[in-house]
Amino acid sequence: MDKDAITIAVPKGRLFKDCMDLFGRMGVSVAEDVDTSRKLVFPSVDGSIRFLVVRDKDVPAYVKYGAADMGIVGKDVLVEAGKDLLEPIDLGFGYCRIVVAEPASARREDPTGWGQARVATKYPNISAAYFASRGEQVEVIPLHGSIELAPSVGLAERIVDLVSTGETLKQNNLVESDEIMHVTAKLVVNRASLKVRSESVVPLIEAMEKAVGVKS
Ligand code: PRP
Repeated sequence: MDKDAITIAVPKGRLFKDCMDLFGRMGVSVAEDVDTSRKLVFPSVDGSIRFLVVRDKDVPAYVKYGAADMGIVGKDVLVEAGKDLLEPIDLGFGYCRIVVAEPASARREDPTGWGQARVATKYPNISAAYFASRGEQVEVIPLHGSIELAPSVGLAERIVDLVSTGETLKQNNLVESDEIMHVTAKLVVNRASLKVRSESVVPLIEAMEKAVGVKS
């Protein structure tokens, strides 16, 4: 592999296929089947790019500390991580929303009655900031998944979670009570890489802009 290869952190999970499709449209391919391989590093066929396959929550750290020159990550993960990274492109794919939801049976139109509620979430920072901005005192309960379960077993009265189709909320008898943010995939870039490796990084950013239709 080219020793000057650009390192890109791509997230496992819901954004992975869209990421690899994007690189495919840019004419960048990998020789191995990334879906079945247990490897975590994949060079592009031409050796110009090295892909690191990591947990989505870890992408900001790889990019911030320069282990990757750039990365792709959902806005939700980026805001939750609170890392100061360059975000040159909104890639447009991976659209979903972060919402507040509660049991349909408990739905109250007036959210001022939410004081001291327990809120289960994968996004403790986003949730704490949201409720603080509204002057609501809640106890945030950080979980790692299956958030929609929490209200039905008495762990929390409300949740803050991602909604895509809305099917998971529906199947767990929850309804949205507010929307916190819209989420899409972002390209994030290490500040030093952009300066020191600009001759490789800038054309790659431009090619990505073209592939997602930001630039003609
Ligand atoms: C995400 C999210 C919701 C679900 C929403 O969970 O946290 O649970 O998808 O999708 P929907 O609106 O299309 O039903 P994920 O599948 O990532 O699993 P997790 O619960 O383990 O986090």
